[in-house]
Amino acid sequence: MSSLLNNTKSLWRRSIRLPKTSSDSSSKAGTKPGPAGTGTDHLVTIAVIGCGQRGKAYTRYALACPDRCKVVAIAEPRPKTQKYFADLHQVDQTLVFNTWQELHAASAETISTVGKRLADAVLIAVQDHLHAEVAVAFADQGYHILCEKPMATNLEDCIAIDRAIKDARKIFGMGHVMRYSPYSREITEIIRSGSLGELINIVQVEPVGYYHFAHSYVRGNWASEEASSFSLMTKCCHDIDLICHWFYPAIPIKVSSFGSLRHFRKSAKPPGAGDATRCMECPAEKECPYSAKKIYLDEVSQGHVGWPASAIVDGIPDIENITEALKKGSYGLCVYESANDVCDNQVVNIEFSNGSTASFTMVAFTEAICDRRTRLHFSHGEIIGDMNTFTVNDFKKRTSKVHHPKSEGGGHGGGDMGLIRSFVDAVLSNEQELLGTNSSEILKSHLTVFAAEASRREGVVIDCVDFEKKARDRWEQANV
Ligand SMILES: NC(=O)c1ccc[n+]([C@@H]2O[C@H](COP(=O)([O-])OP(=O)(O)OC[C@H]3O[C@@H](n4cnc5c(N)ncnc54)[C@H](O)[C@@H]3O)[C@@H](O)[C@H]2O)c1
Repeated sequence: MSSLLNNTKSLWRRSIRLPKTSSDSSSKAGTKPGPAGTGTDHLVTIAVIGCGQRGKAYTRYALACPDRCKVVAIAEPRPKTQKYFADLHQVDQTLVFNTWQELHAASAETISTVGKRLADAVLIAVQDHLHAEVAVAFADQGYHILCEKPMATNLEDCIAIDRAIKDARKIFGMGHVMRYSPYSREITEIIRSGSLGELINIVQVEPVGYYHFAHSYVRGNWASEEASSFSLMTKCCHDIDLICHWFYPAIPIKVSSFGSLRHFRKSAKPPGAGDATRCMECPAEKECPYSAKKIYLDEVSQGHVGWPASAIVDGIPDIENITEALKKGSYGLCVYESANDVCDNQVVNIEFSNGSTASFTMVAFTEAICDRRTRLHFSHGEIIGDMNTFTVNDFKKRTSKVHHPKSEGGGHGGGDMGLIRSFVDAVLSNEQELLGTNSSEILKSHLTVFAAEASRREGVVIDCVDFEKKARDRWEQANV
């Protein structure tokens, strides 16, 4: 956070063509928020910070609903990705930037010269370690913010974001996409209706997927805690969020956790692999399910150029650029020789203030990829689901019914589209409630994730209220 904006002053010396925004305001950062959007006669303009996988996923909504929102500015350093994204959304060249700092500096200039921001909202889709710095900087300029999960990589930065959002009094959305899928929304409605009685226990399993885990948490962006955060945070903060959401208004009071990096370490390397450190030169590659050649190169050879191959090169994957990436980059490394240190299996138990309980498991070693298996146990029934369909067993009526929630497509069972649509609705009407949460609740669900990790490390049961108090006291002391 301390390096914030050191290098912004000299960056912006060009003539910017400002788009019309839904809430054009002459208010300056830190002063009262601008007027609310005036409804359907305006669209929400968005500046995208980071045009990678997630930046692309959310902004499909802008292409599908051009009367509701438009991407008007972008910050993205990778040249091919930047050009592709700018062309796709027809972003004016004066509003295409290489880094978030440049976009932020340009915004500071227009705020000080003509009293306008570059857009109504920013979509923060850069890597985890940048979230806090970017969110605080744009909140200070008075932007509405949709920030990818996790909120930030340490507790202090999460508290800083919550404070900045409260000061700015702007709309804040978090990439807890699972809350916003038709599947989760239907389950939430049943819980709130009380038709099955009281919710007493939840069991949820997150099957990460064997090659997904190797891609993201052994070789990729979330492999090392120092570069991002621990895997319960980077992979499963939205599982814990959803569990807390379903039990609301009860709050977590105690949490315990166990977990380890059990498999993806040097001691598990097959003897046949010898001294090879890269799959392209490994004698045991053919027998290895985690072979980078199988995960990327063979897929591209068969014409599959989407994820995960698309995540490891700038531009469209082909045999040449993927081979190059596997020969030189981290995605070609042996999974037993990588610089990873995050858990590949972890369990969490939570006790809630009303005596209800939840247990959660994250595990790498599954065929399924992220299709959570969930059981919700009520006093008078149960719900058993797999993120696509769910069965409701009603003990009073003695009925069993399978529900097939409609998904409009897109990632996370429609959760990606559900979130961006709710965010746009919230910005247009200036009603945070339309997102069903706010920065304080989001902070609280992250606190539970940090508490679980503290339990795993320290081998103790964590008192959530005490944990939160100590974290806030530490923050106050460091920031007076
Ligand atoms: N909600 C979810 O389910 C979910 C799923 C996956 C990832 N995520 C989160 O979304 C975020 C983005 O993940 P991703 O998979 O899209 O990553 P990505 O690497 O595909 O995209 C990040 C982009 O940011 C760009 N970038 C880097 N430095 C920049 C800078 N200074 N200014 C502007 N842009 C910069 C990169 O070039 C890249 O294109 C991460 O925080 C990740 O944890 C959330």
